[in-house]
Amino acid sequence: MSTLEDTKPVAVALGGVRGGPDVRTLRRDSWWRFPSATAVFLTVVVVYLAWAIFQNAYYFAGASFHRDLISPFYSPCITGSCVPGARGTFLVLHWWTITPAIFAAVLPGGLRVTCYYYRKAYYRSFWQSPPACGVADGHTVYTGETRFPLVFQNLHRYFFFLAIPFAVILTIDAVMAFRLPGDGGIGVSLGSLVLVVNAVLLWLYLMSCHYCRHVCGGNVDKFSKHPLRYQTWRILTPLNHRHMEIAWISLFWVTFADLYVRLVASGWITDPKFF
Ligand code: FES
Repeated sequence: MSTLEDTKPVAVALGGVRGGPDVRTLRRDSWWRFPSATAVFLTVVVVYLAWAIFQNAYYFAGASFHRDLISPFYSPCITGSCVPGARGTFLVLHWWTITPAIFAAVLPGGLRVTCYYYRKAYYRSFWQSPPACGVADGHTVYTGETRFPLVFQNLHRYFFFLAIPFAVILTIDAVMAFRLPGDGGIGVSLGSLVLVVNAVLLWLYLMSCHYCRHVCGGNVDKFSKHPLRYQTWRILTPLNHRHMEIAWISLFWVTFADLYVRLVASGWITDPKFF
């Protein structure tokens, strides 16, 4: 059995590659598994989302299906190109003829792209910067997030606030999904539960956000003088510890929710009604 003591001593250059210029890492475990799996998963999700966003069809299962299910990527549907029934009534941009999913792609999408956790995931899996702890960086120069385009990662705090209305709207969509027009009025179908879980996961994702925790309970010298912020911080901290898991599950689920609505709206499957 080999141990670290058995390995040949290698030069360590401070500020350079750990293990010397010819050794990328001293790790013996399968450290490459996580960045590789992340790269595959994110590639599949991004390709699917790009297709779903620009397909601009089959995103709403309405009265003809006895349902009121809208894909989370196409809500709020407030453009002139929205299919009848999916369109919001409070504001309609009649001049907008391209896909309405652009709103969700830019705002909640921007929150995910600039998310502290996803940054770590895609810096490791795609940029190899670094691929894992104790593994040499794939690049010789490190400039952090101080230059174009990565300096835009600092917009995360604004995306956080811009994404909150989407969580409210998706919650309304989930409630509206219990409407079963022409099929008994109100009831529970698998589609309504899919949208409820999606809304809950989006709220959990927002509440576990590092910036949310900072804005609610950070920057305080004495918690004793801010009991409300302290209680909020106490609630958000355990969620924040789970931000990575929530980020993955919510990304998977929002993609699944879009696919589910799409399959119902295109007639591939029937949304089962429980009662
Ligand atoms: S949403 Fe991930 S850190 Fe804010």
